[in-house]
Amino acid sequence: MRAYQILPGEGIDGLQCVDFPERELGTGEVRVRVHAVSLNYRDLMVAGGNYLVTVDDPIIPCSDGAGEVVATGAGVTRVQPGDRVVASFFPYWRDGPTGPDKTRHALGGDIDGMLAEDVVLDEDALVPIPAGMSYIDAATLPCAGVTAWNAIFESASAIRPGDTVLLLGTGGVSILGLQLARAAGLDTIITSSSDTKLQRAQGLGARHVINYRTTPEWQEEVLRATGGTGAHVVLEVGGQGTVNRSIASAAMGGSIAIIGGVSGFGGEVNPATLLASAKRLVGIFVGSRAMLEKVVRFADITGLQPIVDRVFTFDQAREAYQYMASGSHFGKVVIAVTS
Ligand SMILES: NC(=O)c1ccc[n+]([C@@H]2O[C@H](COP(=O)([O-])OP(=O)(O)OC[C@H]3O[C@@H](n4cnc5c(N)ncnc54)[C@H](OP(=O)(O)O)[C@@H]3O)[C@@H](O)[C@H]2O)c1
Repeated sequence: MRAYQILPGEGIDGLQCVDFPERELGTGEVRVRVHAVSLNYRDLMVAGGNYLVTVDDPIIPCSDGAGEVVATGAGVTRVQPGDRVVASFFPYWRDGPTGPDKTRHALGGDIDGMLAEDVVLDEDALVPIPAGMSYIDAATLPCAGVTAWNAIFESASAIRPGDTVLLLGTGGVSILGLQLARAAGLDTIITSSSDTKLQRAQGLGARHVINYRTTPEWQEEVLRATGGTGAHVVLEVGGQGTVNRSIASAAMGGSIAIIGGVSGFGGEVNPATLLASAKRLVGIFVGSRAMLEKVVRFADITGLQPIVDRVFTFDQAREAYQYMASGSHFGKVVIAVTS
């Protein structure tokens, strides 16, 4: 079987397609024939060697993939050959609150990930997908979908129908966040550097759109659009350049889900901006298998189809990474491992 490998820090050009012998399955292990993999900003960080954890040896990159179970090891009870499955970002975080044991390994971070024709995973890492969900759609959910779900429905202050969710930019997390929020009857505001992308976001139901380049004080626009109330949940993916504006955009008692740093990490937060308004800064670290199960179920019952900007072939993996790095995408970038 073929798989890509990368030594973190070598950059996108360090991606190498390598032939691997099939290894025997151990107890509780499952062989999955991967059909689709989606890329996340985090995969660019791994390639660049600036992800949270790093390793000394090459790894198979990418956390997010879906495929078909082709063989099971001794003692496997959760899945059987022929099942269609998606893998959970943290293979050992099944349910409940986070903890160091649960997030000790992450696919495509410190252990091998999904950018391969076949992968061997613990049965506990797998979530079955419904018959009507494509492998491409399922592959968008483990990181971006679960992160957005966790931020809106699990970790924020209780959110009610009609409450406002603020999304920053039109990347994978934000567009899945927009889709989840709309499908749940929530009001949405989204920012982007591109008017064309904002038009697309309006087509997905965003009620208010703001170009953060031409409106640098976009937090004022968020407050105006909400009649002075602010957003009940902010999916803060910007980091250094946006976090204080996100806090200013949030409603009293609202939550700012600290997710990413596309504009870098660092900077200062003044505690006074949080206390009288009882705003909450909540760190989000993807989520559990149980959350992935909920996202899959929610997408199934609402008919949510994740927005996939472009699909590349397995042989075009480097081009897919480069396209992602260019920032031209809207929503998700996917690699179809099988044609
Ligand atoms: N904590 C977690 O568990 C977790 C999970 C997933 C992702 N993340 C993090 O979340 C961030 C987004 O990830 P992703 O995979 O969704 O990335 P992505 O698909 O590459 O999206 C990045 C988007 O961010 C927007 N952007 C860039 N600079 C911005 C700025 N200054 N203000 C507002 N938006 C800006 C751009 O949107 P426009 O082109 O529309 O301007 C860009 O397309 C990354 O930092 C990633 O590491 C964290």
